Amino acid sequence: MTESISSGKFITVEGIDGCGKTTQAEYIIDGLVEAGLSAKLVREPGGDPISESIRKLLLHAEESMSDRAEALLMIASRAQLTDKVILPQIIDGKWVVADRYADSTVAYQGGGRGLSVKSLSDINHFGTYTLKPDLTFFIDIPVEVANMRMSVARDRIESEGDDFQQRVRDQYLMLSKSEPDRVIVINGEQTIEEIKIEIWNHINSKFNL
Ligand code: TYD
Repeated sequence: MTESISSGKFITVEGIDGCGKTTQAEYIIDGLVEAGLSAKLVREPGGDPISESIRKLLLHAEESMSDRAEALLMIASRAQLTDKVILPQIIDGKWVVADRYADSTVAYQGGGRGLSVKSLSDINHFGTYTLKPDLTFFIDIPVEVANMRMSVARDRIESEGDDFQQRVRDQYLMLSKSEPDRVIVINGEQTIEEIKIEIWNHINSKFNL
């Protein structure tokens, strides 16, 4: 969709908790800005006042939340962010880098919680106004390594445990196999600098910057 409506590009960064994606998303923005492009960083769930309110509910709710309510709130937050922030930027010819997007719902609520991936993909399609990233980096690390990197203070979803994170990782790996041109797997056990360079080389070769 992005290619048909504008020259703005949309890049997403994905992975299990503790994989280092936020650092890399910031590096991508720095690289794009250095290349003279206008680029905006957003994070999910969140990135807009309404989406940030939904984030608080999602990550810190004290009552037990139904898996489907969780999935729908993730997608509601995404619909708001897509409509109010991402699409206007892209239509204006600007670049957007998202620290998580629709693949997170497929991985966490599909792989992690066991909800239907087909249903989640359909609702994602509706919630994203059919917007798909031009390029997605899946920073892949083993669950044990992620665990060592994560802080002790964990939110509701980060506290789900190793089996949950393993199912999320497996779902990401399946996604990358089903859409190999869009979803690039990056070995997250490399140094931060090595990952940064590998990601930038992919961006350069895809978009000829
Ligand atoms: P994130 O912002 O990456 O965590 P942090 O603030 O620690 O960097 O994501 C918050 C949590 O939300 C994370 O555990 C993944 C989860 N999540 C889903 O379960 N489904 C989704 O669709 C999204 C976007 C995030």
